[in-house]
Amino acid sequence: MRHLIDPLDLSKAEAQSLLELAMRIRQDPAAYQEVATHKKLATLFYEPSTRTRLSFEAAMLNLGGHVLGFPSDIVSSATKGESVADTIRIISCYADIAAMRHPKEGAPLRASRYSRIPVINAGDGGHQHPTQTLTDLLTILTRKGRLENLTIGLCGDLKFGRTVHSLIKTMARYEGVRFVLISPEELRVPDYIIKDVLQANNISYTETHSLEDAMPELDILYMTRVQKERFFNEEDYVRLKNSYILTREKMGLAKPDMAVLHPLPRVNEIALDVDDDPRAAYFEQAQNGVYVRMALIMMLLGLTDPKTGKEVSLC
Ligand code: NCD
Repeated sequence: MRHLIDPLDLSKAEAQSLLELAMRIRQDPAAYQEVATHKKLATLFYEPSTRTRLSFEAAMLNLGGHVLGFPSDIVSSATKGESVADTIRIISCYADIAAMRHPKEGAPLRASRYSRIPVINAGDGGHQHPTQTLTDLLTILTRKGRLENLTIGLCGDLKFGRTVHSLIKTMARYEGVRFVLISPEELRVPDYIIKDVLQANNISYTETHSLEDAMPELDILYMTRVQKERFFNEEDYVRLKNSYILTREKMGLAKPDMAVLHPLPRVNEIALDVDDDPRAAYFEQAQNGVYVRMALIMMLLGLTDPKTGKEVSLC
């Protein structure tokens, strides 16, 4: 049995097959509507979420399966003091697969050790968010036609943004990828990402405070919000929250075929008039989130792809 806790839990080849399956689903979603009949997905969300939880639920419903779960810790037995280990032992009796979001880093990993069903990390604290990365990969691939030889700018809260950490870890596996890390000093990418991922693999990267300076060289611009809930004090958040605002004017500095991604929710880091720019890919990215989650559920459960007649599974 396999889990998805860290983005590198999938080999490059497995991620490739998953993206190919997601693209087949994207072309003809109706063909997949009975693939998971009688299967149940549990969504265990101890932290707020709109897109991730609902896209997991939509994914399972689109496959003809069922969903159960809780949307916040206040309506679960966590308030009574139940441990994640006990919760997943119980959920293993009720569902075939589980997606867990938790404010504590490592909670989904711990759950996976006690689980009898596949566990998917749907975001753990400021750590990792592997299914958002699969969503980002599908969006980059469909927009640019490749995952190699890209200059990727990541802008905003690179310290607490788990989507940023997972994306860097994953994209570092593709040849010719360069990163431009755009953040205020206090919100720089954590040292472990710089040392263990970028420097350890000889990946080219630069750090800058200026979005305008970086703009002209980027193939992808990945905007992020400042992660209010991970700050220790309100004053720091207020001071940093407007560090970067992508405007139509700044878009004028970018390549004509750059793509703007954002995991969403947006606060005010992308002005509303950028939404009409054909380079804005963030709403399409949210739609892609459903296709990759459908593909992931199919692969973790070893379901049959109606298009090929073959069982899809991780090696
Ligand atoms: C992200 C998250 O939860 O980390 N949202 C999401 O899953 N789409 C990004 C964020 O909350 O800023």
